[in-house]
Amino acid sequence: MWKRTGNDADAITSDRSRFDGEAPGKVLDDIAPRPRLTPHVITFANEKGGVGKSTLAFHIAVALAHAGQKVVAIDLDRRQRTLERGLSYRQGTACNLGVTLPSPHYSVLDYPSTAALYQTINRLGPDADFVIFDAAGADSPIFRRVVALADTLITPINASFLDLELLGRLNPVSGVPERAGCFGQTVSELREEKLARKMGLIEWIVVKNRVRAAEKRHIGRVDDALERLSISHDFRIAQGLSERVAFRELFQFGLTHLDLDLIPDMIRPQASSRDEIEALIEDLGLRVESREAGGGPTRRNARVLKRTRQDFRAALNAVL
Ligand SMILES: Nc1ncnc2c1ncn2[C@@H]1O[C@H](COP(=O)(O)OP(=O)(O)OP(=O)(O)O)[C@@H](O)[C@H]1O
Ligand SMILES: [Mg+2]
Repeated sequence: MWKRTGNDADAITSDRSRFDGEAPGKVLDDIAPRPRLTPHVITFANEKGGVGKSTLAFHIAVALAHAGQKVVAIDLDRRQRTLERGLSYRQGTACNLGVTLPSPHYSVLDYPSTAALYQTINRLGPDADFVIFDAAGADSPIFRRVVALADTLITPINASFLDLELLGRLNPVSGVPERAGCFGQTVSELREEKLARKMGLIEWIVVKNRVRAAEKRHIGRVDDALERLSISHDFRIAQGLSERVAFRELFQFGLTHLDLDLIPDMIRPQASSRDEIEALIEDLGLRVESREAGGGPTRRNARVLKRTRQDFRAALNAVL
């Protein structure tokens, strides 16, 4: 879905033959006969690895659960299983500390088929408010399906031209977008196909992640490039999360800084980290009906010894 904008448009080429992968028509043929998903589907995807897809998926899933939403989180990376691991550590933490934490229902997709995907949603909660997919950082048939199913597609990127080129290539002298990158092309084709079949829009949001204050000058150039690509590719740019230890230090505990207020005798959470997560949710423009946060699928374990609780709390306080 390259948008033609003044002179920029003449320079853009969209050359399907440069990229292989399953044809968009085949992807949509597979999805079209299946029941329409009622939850709002958020897919975290980028063919670039290590940009923060799982980190953002985890934080957004937990933040939505805090807002009282029923969230189903499905990890499509069956080797790394980052999202699944984070959410299972969360259950362990709730259990070891004897607290209730708002939590998504979660699973990893062990068999990457469309049928398995729908079965997993049906098992975890077809009545959920949100389904979150965390895709692995490489093209595959299941990758294309979760991009096609998205109501909101979130693509984290690092502030680097290397990352940007998977979306689209800009002329280094004129700064004009010249051609789509591999991921940009895939998204564009799937969006067009979905729209043509009247199966709904995919709102595409590119989120900057791990921005460091010290990189301002370089980021200025990347920001300009991103603005141009946002017009040619029809995506929105959201301010993501900055580079902070806070967004990775609690992984082993399955926690975010939103959770720390719920844990007795805990060091105070960093308000700035909490604010960034809340600002990101706001920026994504998701429709979140305010509700009391429920406990989610956490288990209380009455048999956890007081000593275990104390040790666990001390370990948690030590990383903060
Ligand atoms: N905002 C952030 N601040 C600090 N560290 C971050 C931030 N976002 C991500 N990281 C770290 O960056 C690394 C990559 O993050 P993550 O695993 O979420 O990326 P990914 O896109 O899911 O990777 P993959 O493609 O391998 O699935 C991890 O070490 C993670 O802890
Ligand atoms: Mg990941």
